[in-house]
Amino acid sequence: MSFIGPTGSGKTRLALQLLARSVSDDLTGYITVMKAKDKTVGEFLAQHDRWKRTLTFPPPPRAPGMPKVNGWVVWPHHTNDPAADEIRHERVFKEMHKRLYVKGDNIIFDDEVVSLVREMDMKRDLTRIWTKGRSLGSGLWGATQRPAMVPLEMYDQAQHLFLANIKDKRSQDRFGEIAGVDPDLVVDVVRRLPKFHWLYIRQEAGQMCVVGP
Ligand SMILES: Nc1ncnc2c1ncn2[C@@H]1O[C@H](COP(=O)(O)OP(=O)(O)O)[C@@H](O)[C@H]1O
Ligand SMILES: [Mg+2]
Repeated sequence: MSFIGPTGSGKTRLALQLLARSVSDDLTGYITVMKAKDKTVGEFLAQHDRWKRTLTFPPPPRAPGMPKVNGWVVWPHHTNDPAADEIRHERVFKEMHKRLYVKGDNIIFDDEVVSLVREMDMKRDLTRIWTKGRSLGSGLWGATQRPAMVPLEMYDQAQHLFLANIKDKRSQDRFGEIAGVDPDLVVDVVRRLPKFHWLYIRQEAGQMCVVGP
């Protein structure tokens, strides 16, 4: 599932709403958070007691008597040394993707795909999960504000795409990589979407509709 739109368009909030409804005792959610602060994720954690933050991966074992966790927000801490943080974060996120992908029974939501690809050098890790993860029982969800900089698989392997209002030409050019729908129509609809509205595309069926808040 792919969420594509500029900063503040509601990607994180929509993805978290859907994720909270998609996980269960048998299907665990994992969210990667790279920013030092994210109000939307912070609010989500405060509102969902079956979701916990972990600074590392794997998450700490469940203490006796603690209810089962439906999801983990993998959100390493930030210090005043960004370069060292980046190395540490890269280790955590790579380990997480490597392990979860073969384990299956999970949904991984990468909330900032461009940062993973460009800062953490994770293009291959993501591409592997996007192309093979489904058959192993892993779902990979991704959000990005810069669609021109993400791997092609974020489009052509997505069963479900949510596109917010995007006006720049480079981003619109990627719409040609969505199967079964007319890219000119997609461009035309997307650039007229009001705030917090999405063009939802079900790629396999070549179907689309506009959804509101
Ligand atoms: N459907 C909505 N209705 C009202 N407010 C929304 C909606 N979706 C998002 N917001 C608010 O807009 C802000 C940005 O949303 P967020 O999901 O963090 O955007 P993004 O991840 O695309 O940067 C947040 O304060 C969020 O609560
Ligand atoms: Mg966000």
